[in-house]
Amino acid sequence: MQVIFKSMTLVNFKSHRDITVNFGEQTDITGDNAEGKSTVCEIPSYVFYGTDALGSKLDPTPITYEADETKVSLLLEIDGKELMLGRSLKKNKTTYYVNDVPSKAGEFNEVVEKLFDKDLFLSLYNPNYFPSMHWEKQRSMLLQYVPSPVNKDVLKHMPDEQSKCLSALLKKHSLEDIKKIHAENKTSMDKKYIAAQSRTKTLREQLDQIAPTVALDSLKVEEGQLLKQIKEIEKITDSAWDTNQKINTLNTRIRSMLSEREQMKEDFQRLKDEEIQGSCRVCKQPLKDESLESAEMEKQDRIKKFKENYNAQVIQRKELEEELSKLEYIDVSEQIEKVRELERQRDPLLQEIRNHGQYEQLNNQVNQAQADENETLQSLNESIFILDSVKAFKAKEAELQGEKVQALFETLSVRLFEEQKNGDLKNTFEIELDKKPYRKLSTAEGIRAGLELRDVLSQQSDLITPVFVDNAESITSFKQPVGQLIVSRVVAGQKLKIEGVDAE
Ligand SMILES: Nc1ncnc2c1ncn2[C@@H]1O[C@H](COP(=O)(O)OP(=O)(O)OP(=O)(O)O)[C@@H](O)[C@H]1O
Ligand SMILES: [Mg+2]
Repeated sequence: MQVIFKSMTLVNFKSHRDITVNFGEQTDITGDNAEGKSTVCEIPSYVFYGTDALGSKLDPTPITYEADETKVSLLLEIDGKELMLGRSLKKNKTTYYVNDVPSKAGEFNEVVEKLFDKDLFLSLYNPNYFPSMHWEKQRSMLLQYVPSPVNKDVLKHMPDEQSKCLSALLKKHSLEDIKKIHAENKTSMDKKYIAAQSRTKTLREQLDQIAPTVALDSLKVEEGQLLKQIKEIEKITDSAWDTNQKINTLNTRIRSMLSEREQMKEDFQRLKDEEIQGSCRVCKQPLKDESLESAEMEKQDRIKKFKENYNAQVIQRKELEEELSKLEYIDVSEQIEKVRELERQRDPLLQEIRNHGQYEQLNNQVNQAQADENETLQSLNESIFILDSVKAFKAKEAELQGEKVQALFETLSVRLFEEQKNGDLKNTFEIELDKKPYRKLSTAEGIRAGLELRDVLSQQSDLITPVFVDNAESITSFKQPVGQLIVSRVVAGQKLKIEGVDAE
């Protein structure tokens, strides 16, 4: 889209009582200081936005003379179509005009907004406007025309390993999320790794303390031999135990039978001395003769039975005594002492064998701890690698985007990123000419830089507008900008002169 200024009228606008400006392809404004050159420059922005050319609110009411009404109008040609915009200010009340038709503020603003973006127009019209904006605004305005490179392009320019790793991760998460995930994992793995290392170390120290000195096999052989000897001896002591036990049992039984015999003797005496009672033991009736006789018989019978019993007991005892006389007590105290001695030798071996088991168990724990440690380290290293890759990605993305932006400029360089102390990139925006930032440039350098910038913006946005170069007497030469050029120059002793010049 091309915006052309055709003509402009101003009545009672600051020092100007009534002038008409006819613009050409180039419009030269000349005159001595304070002739009102810069004021002319403010009209278009005032008509559109009620501001000066830097976007600050403007009150053009004359202060050096009495005036009823301030009135300005600007005739534009936009892509071949004419549009007349105007404003008048009377007693602090603004009236708007679109093609001479009085309009409400809202209607008027809508017409203007539809034409072009305010920041863009002011940037193109006034070469000083763009650098006066906040750097973030400048950056986003320029970058809206230079989209950041797509992930695929960035990955293509990265080392193979990093590229492969990130492209897989980018299928699931955004770069920022990848960074968050692995920054968190790195922090927790850092801690976990330190803990895992110390656990492995502690367990290893414990393991060293119980390291067996003799091999398990030879311990088992030695212990086995001792056990075999013990078993041999125990065979002897066990059988001796049987015999000795038998002797003890026989002795005990014989002793008890002897005391039983003493008891029997006493009992027998009592039985013999027993008198037959004259009455029934049960019913207490005096016994008859035949009954007495049978009682006597019964007593004799009992005596007989008792004797039989007694003799049987004696026979049995004699048999036991006979059996005992054949047995001989075996003394195994020597063997028992030997077994004790062997057990004494075997105990430390058994302890050593058990120690082998504990060692084995602890060794497993050490191996598990070492595996945990390795796994943690691997996860930690992986996150470090990914975080480095993210950083490399961002750096490459910035580099590619920087190159794209830089390619738009001829003499200026543009810095979009700044490396922080931690190596991360931070957004920034700096326009430089020969490594000097814009704000350090001389007046003429500043005008040239501003013109190059607005030309880039004009090309990128496809919007052509007039550009105003104020105080051009301070600059020897500059490149013809894109669009109509309005130039003001101080000429000593000269009244204000405005001349539109068209190419022949
Ligand atoms: N509201 C106003 N009413 C009347 N005069 C004003 C008003 N505001 C500014 N002026 C005066 O208008 C005159 C023209 O100012 P302007 O800045 O346009 O001059 P200039 O030609 O650009 O001067 P220079 O060569 O110094 O840049 C100045 O004397 C200024 O003080
Ligand atoms: Mg001036």
